Amino acid sequence: MIIAIDGPTASGKGTIAKALAAHFGLPHLDTGLLYRAVGRQVFLNAGNPDDPDAALVATDFPESLLADPALRSEETGALASRVSIHPGVRAALLARQQAFARQPGGAVLDGRDIATVIAPQAEAKLFVTASVTARALRRWAEMQQRGENVTREAIEADLAARDERDRTRTAAPLRQADDAALLDTSALSIEAAIAAAIALVEKQLKA
Ligand code: C5P
Repeated sequence: MIIAIDGPTASGKGTIAKALAAHFGLPHLDTGLLYRAVGRQVFLNAGNPDDPDAALVATDFPESLLADPALRSEETGALASRVSIHPGVRAALLARQQAFARQPGGAVLDGRDIATVIAPQAEAKLFVTASVTARALRRWAEMQQRGENVTREAIEADLAARDERDRTRTAAPLRQADDAALLDTSALSIEAAIAAAIALVEKQLKA
């Protein structure tokens, strides 16, 4: 059983994917982390994230990099969004994601192109979204808690730029698969969003 979760940054898809994995007893892969590792490795190599060759070299990052807390930063998120437009980078990360999806027993994967490219055969597909204002507010609250000093306006502008890049790139753009269920979390608490996600997946599994 494969559960594919796609959606923009700060939509709640990561939290929902983790909760679904726990609920259904499946392993979970946050595929954004792989792109973040490539973005971080480009930075460590002092390379240019917009150069396809420099980005491709960075796909050879060491496994230990996946545990680096720097991967969670806004800076690395922005670098990930820039390296992820290169088709060579996406191709280099494809086999790893597909192998995870196809493991015996199944898996939950979250990202931007899980239902459209990585695992179109998934039994359950959710497209998790929320308004840019709701997403910026959540991200801002998280950053306030970490003591980072940034305005909501700046976060909203950054999210809008990242959405635009993810949606308009030619290689595997962010879009809702035709057979994915839409879950808008703008007005939902985390608990309500998780309950709605479980109900949508159960409905798809029964269909
Ligand atoms: O989900 P997260 O914010 O960690 O993803 C960081 C960036 O990686 C996204 O903005 C997107 O450009 C890219 N990404 C992608 N395909 C995926 C997962 C993430 O292009 N499956």
